[in-house]
Parts: sequence; C-alpha cells; structure tokens
Amino acid sequence: MSKTFDVAVLVGSLRRESTNRRLAEALTRVAPPSLAFYFVPLEELPMYNGDLESNRPDAVQRFVAACARADGVLFVTPEFNRSLPGVLKNAIDWGSRPPDKNVWRDKPVASCGTTPGAIGTSAAQLHLRQVLGALNAFFLGGEAYLTYKPAWANASAILQDEPTRKFLQAYMERFAQFVGKLAPRSTQA
Ligand code: FNR
Repeated sequence: MSKTFDVAVLVGSLRRESTNRRLAEALTRVAPPSLAFYFVPLEELPMYNGDLESNRPDAVQRFVAACARADGVLFVTPEFNRSLPGVLKNAIDWGSRPPDKNVWRDKPVASCGTTPGAIGTSAAQLHLRQVLGALNAFFLGGEAYLTYKPAWANASAILQDEPTRKFLQAYMERFAQFVGKLAPRSTQA
C-alpha cells in the first residue's frame, strides 16, 4: 500500500458560513487518497505577544503541534484589503517562533481561495507566498484562486460545477505529488 501523508488545512476565515471553508472541504474531497486531511482551528489563538512565549497558552501549543506534525499544509483563504486576513497571519507568526522551532521550515504548502471579487484572492495568495517563502516553506508552483459563485452553497455544489471540479482536482493531484516528493524532508527531526 502506498504511503499516506497528513495534511493540515488552515482556513483564513472564522465565519460559520465561510465560502473558503466550503472550498477547503471541496478540495479535500477531490484530492488523491494519498493525502489525509485534518482542519486546524484558528479561532482560539490569541494575538501574538512575545510576553506569552515563556508560558505559551494551550491553544498556541495545540496549534503549533498540529502544524508541526503535518507532512504538508493547505491554506484556503479569503482576501482582506489585498492581503491575507490577520487571523491567518497571526497563526503563521505563532508557528514561526522561536526561529529554531519554525514549523513552516521545509514544509510543502499550497494555497487556494475564493472571494466574490474578480481577482479572487490572488493578491492575498501572493502575500502568503511571500510570508511563507521568508519562513523557508516550499510553496507549490502555479496558482489557484476562484471567483465565488452564488450557487456554491456547500462543497457538493462547488464540485457540481464541472470545470471547477476538474481544476481543483488537478491542483490537488499536483499538491499530492509535491508532498510525496518533499514530505520526508519536512518531517525529519
Ligand atoms: C473583504 N473582501 C475582499 N475581497 C476581495 O476580493 N479583495 C479584498 O481586498 C477584500 N477585502 C476585504 C476586507 C475585509 C475586512 C472584508 C471583511 C472583506 C471580501 C471577502 O473576501 C469576502 O467577503 C469573502 O467571501 C470572505 O471569505 P469567507 O468568510 O466567505 O470565507
């Protein structure tokens, strides 16, 4: 049997009805079986504060452990004011400290996102690429951003949109190959 890789999914929106959460669920459904996904919640993370470093809150410890054990990370995020939402940047900041325990180092990562706007999160994802590049993550090449359609009421509805399903499936197949090539390095002690 071929190896299964664990992939952490981070959604950059806390909204109950988040369209990006629906998109994330759709992505997990079309991915090859070599990827096993788990969603990592961001809502309990406090804002980064160096004074908390000596006694990290439980929520931070749980978050960091969940990301550290991942063979790969999938970010699915909206765009806020032409960048990534603060909640996601805050989470990345926690995971980056202290520098010798940066959980993003050598991690295979990919990103996707949707907004109703015409450029569907491309600016946010460019910033995400910049941030994670500085943290020595390995970012999947190519781009995956979508203009949200009102008919996408849930993950199934997204996948009923045939061109979108094919696009998402191809992106996840590439991500699975990428994780398969790089994951052994990312999870070495
Ligand atoms: C937005 N939105 C938005 N959309 C976009 O395409 N480019 C942008 O720069 C912004 N900026 C922005 C700022 C703020 C503060 C908010 C609250 C919203 C719209 C936003 O991306 C849209 O509402 C998404 O649907 C939110 O994603 P979820 O919560 O549905 O996953």
